[in-house]
Amino acid sequence: MKNKILRLVKYLFFKLPLYRYFLPVMKFDMSISQLNFILNTLDEVKNDGAVVEIGVGGGATSMVINKFMKNMPVKRRFYAIDTFFGFTKEDILYEQNNRGKVDNYLYYRSNSKEWYTKTLIAHGINDATVFKCDAKEFDYSVIGKLAFCLFDVDLFKPTEAVLPRLYELLVPGGVIIVDDCQSESSIYDGAGEAYRLFCSKMGLIEEIAFEKLGVIRKPLF
Ligand SMILES: C[S@@+](CC[C@H](N)C(=O)[O-])C[C@H]1O[C@@H](n2cnc3c(N)ncnc32)[C@H](O)[C@@H]1O
Repeated sequence: MKNKILRLVKYLFFKLPLYRYFLPVMKFDMSISQLNFILNTLDEVKNDGAVVEIGVGGGATSMVINKFMKNMPVKRRFYAIDTFFGFTKEDILYEQNNRGKVDNYLYYRSNSKEWYTKTLIAHGINDATVFKCDAKEFDYSVIGKLAFCLFDVDLFKPTEAVLPRLYELLVPGGVIIVDDCQSESSIYDGAGEAYRLFCSKMGLIEEIAFEKLGVIRKPLF
């Protein structure tokens, strides 16, 4: 009887034009292949250290990373850093005045630290440490050793300023993945320029996975 009622309710529901807004959806900035690459790369890091995501948005990728970490033998702390109000004025001005971008960059302003935290908790993730701040201003020494970082703030200025600080904390064998490193020009090509600049300064070979993930690996020895 219960099943019959449920089927009837679902039958009526799928007749409504609004049904597509209530389906279980996967809304990610990353493709499945990119997510898979991120998780496999994280899995390959064997040394102790924390996992950090800088630029977390609403938490879609954070949720996947944390769920994955729950099944890993090595237990790691997870830190999330975001303004939760999109790009900073300074970073936008740099794109406009120094990189010839004409966009106003008023995106990602509909998030909040509270909503992000609640999203993680709704998925059973209660132990994340969340910071609301400009990534350029953050004191990264509070993290201690860094095993893995997904760095996803899109623009040149914060990526350029923070990459050297992350690399300093990175354990041997640790990995930083910088999103938006595709070669095509776009309003978000600043992260890629900063990634290439960092690799060139440090003498590291550029490694671009799935056309947009810029990988930085710290040698084991
Ligand atoms: C592309 S979204 C992140 C998406 C997220 N990594 C995911 O995969 O779901 C970029 C995020 O970077 C944040 N952001 C941009 N500039 C920042 C800065 N200087 N400091 C901290 N967060 C910043 C924005 O608020 C936005 O939430």
